[in-house]
Amino acid sequence: MTVTVTRLHETFAAQVSGIDLAHPEDRALGQLAAAIDEYGVVIVRDQTLTNEDQIALASRFGLLEPSVTRYRADNRQRIERKEIVDVSNLDENDRPRAVDDRLRMLLLGNRLWHTDSSFRATPGALSMLYARVVPPAGGETEFADNRAAYETLPSPLKQRVDDMLAEHALMYSREQLGFTDFSQEERNALPPVRHPLVRSSPAHGRRALYMGSHASHIVGLPVPEGRMILRDLLEHATQRERVYAHAWHVGDLVIWDNRCTMHRGKPYDESYPRDLRRVTTSDTEPLSTYDMLQRRSEASREAPARA
Ligand code: OGA
Ligand code: MN
Repeated sequence: MTVTVTRLHETFAAQVSGIDLAHPEDRALGQLAAAIDEYGVVIVRDQTLTNEDQIALASRFGLLEPSVTRYRADNRQRIERKEIVDVSNLDENDRPRAVDDRLRMLLLGNRLWHTDSSFRATPGALSMLYARVVPPAGGETEFADNRAAYETLPSPLKQRVDDMLAEHALMYSREQLGFTDFSQEERNALPPVRHPLVRSSPAHGRRALYMGSHASHIVGLPVPEGRMILRDLLEHATQRERVYAHAWHVGDLVIWDNRCTMHRGKPYDESYPRDLRRVTTSDTEPLSTYDMLQRRSEASREAPARA
């Protein structure tokens, strides 16, 4: 199979075809990794992946983080594997969740622009979201290009934000929607963390804004001022022409680099099932996706995993 890459938006996002992600060849994975580095968001259609396939694929690119729903023993889990983030609207009996279901309300936070797990000390690097069941209309996922957003800031503002640190917290992003139902266990597990507001990409040195719904304020500035800066930057980054909207089909795998993009889910009629499952790698090392893949492949050749 020949891997082909087709650009989907003026500044970012591409479709990659000619690859079977359940049985990927090393060369094809290398091409996929290079496309992720270049485009930030990559769509691969017509894939057939089990939970294990999806986990195995993501593991080629890094360590996997556990879902935030795992910090509380009384959450009812539909999917056993803790690496799978169940972003569906289904309960443990595969039926749409009740309107006031706690997990449903927690997941509504995905409708705010965000970057995955920026509330963790080691945040998310790549997310891989796979569609098993999609509703007849709506439920798109939108993406914003935070590299283009940084590059189009006026120079004085670039200089101003370059050295800023932002504080991020899951509790903050959920509070914005009025969701505060966190146990002490969850609060202790996920305290606020700080990250640079501007990151530079290990692949090519391009800088990107690093923010989104979990970012609550700027360290060292009055909270309202920092919050206003974050709002203005978010508005700048998510102007219509900078956004790519992905309309889901069953079998789509969408991979995005949380270090240089943001995303949000769009509403849909929740009486229909929407079964999307995500796996996210941890940003443990400042490596490009391509280099991370090579590093992990070398390590697994040296110390082959036991069956
Ligand atoms: C996610 C997410 C949005 C959506 O899985 O991280 O934000 O459209 N999903 O489901
Ligand atoms: Mn997300």
